[in-house]
Amino acid sequence: MDGNSLGALPIAARERLEHVVKAEWGKGLIKSWNDAGWIALNERVGAKIAPLVGAHPKEVVLADSTSVNLFKTVATAAVLNAGRKKIISEAGNFPTDLYMMEGLTAFMKGDLELKVTARDDILEALDEDTAVLLLTHVHYVSGAMFDMAAVTKTAHEKGVLVVWDLSHSAGAVTLALSEAGADFAVGCGYKYLNGGPGAPAFIYAAERHHGAMAQPLSGWFGHKCPFDFVDTFEPKDGIARMTTGTTPVLAASALESALSVFDGLDMETVRTKSVALTDLFIALCEKDLGAYGFTVVPCGDDARGSHVSLMHDEGYAIMAALIDHGVIGDFRAPNNLRFGFTPLYMSFVDVWDAVETLHRIMKKKIWDHAKYKERNAVT
Ligand SMILES: Cc1ncc(COP(=O)(O)O)c(C=O)c1O
Repeated sequence: MDGNSLGALPIAARERLEHVVKAEWGKGLIKSWNDAGWIALNERVGAKIAPLVGAHPKEVVLADSTSVNLFKTVATAAVLNAGRKKIISEAGNFPTDLYMMEGLTAFMKGDLELKVTARDDILEALDEDTAVLLLTHVHYVSGAMFDMAAVTKTAHEKGVLVVWDLSHSAGAVTLALSEAGADFAVGCGYKYLNGGPGAPAFIYAAERHHGAMAQPLSGWFGHKCPFDFVDTFEPKDGIARMTTGTTPVLAASALESALSVFDGLDMETVRTKSVALTDLFIALCEKDLGAYGFTVVPCGDDARGSHVSLMHDEGYAIMAALIDHGVIGDFRAPNNLRFGFTPLYMSFVDVWDAVETLHRIMKKKIWDHAKYKERNAVT
């Protein structure tokens, strides 16, 4: 139940990695940049992600990590909206989103500033000095999902460009970036897209911005003719100018194969199952666990993404015990037990089994053991 943090290993990805290592790298060596198509891997994988996020294949590219892409897209959007100074984001957004903005604004020495606002006040906070609104579409703890089209529309009416972090959305909920008029988006490859630990991330940029967008990490992979080895930077046409350095071929190949599980899948169907799984989990928790002090982290008036968090003062120890008993979720400080529902490979029986195991751990106080209270580096 942690595919929202690290998706399961697809058979196709394992087989592809073996082939890439043995044949393309082992035998082909550097020739594989041409012969095995490594040079176009980032654009090819981007095009495969595009239908999952409701974008045109030419609007998505694989690059770097989500953190780095946040820096690149927000900086790009801020330049497109020059004359305005503020970046607005949500208080309690995923830390890297805020940390990267702290870094960007510090680097800009006062030319850009970050304002972090309570969720309910975000739209009101947008003003004539706001350049960019940076939001995570599905909140990493609560699972609350913004209405992307409505938020984007309001932001645009106020002249603000929007960058969406789709880390907890891509591959689990229906997304329509183009239809919503979104400007930029970023997201992880290793969660619901099942690309493997540390898989590269993606960037979306609406085609209308391609001509004018200039991102600050102008590395040679974003150069129009990298193998001309000229001294000055000239960006590639289109989305590929958002890339920076050499594609991590092994990781990108794994992700490319992992994405084949989505071939021919309708995301509406995936979403329907996701909602049914989370609804069942919440109903079972409310029925069986009420006596043990759990609270479902609410989504307010927003829809829910594909994970559910339960709050409990002993959350860390309970999750550690649960993992020890074969139900893998995760813990998000200060007191959230987080459960992901990956519609492609989770069954309703898995949900029943998980709640039953949690019930047993509470009833027998299994969690109340010293070995479950010692914090690991990764929770
Ligand atoms: C909303 C969000 N953004 C970004 C990240 C991670 O970024 P990176 O892949 O750069 O570590 C996460 C990781 O969980 C996340 O939840």
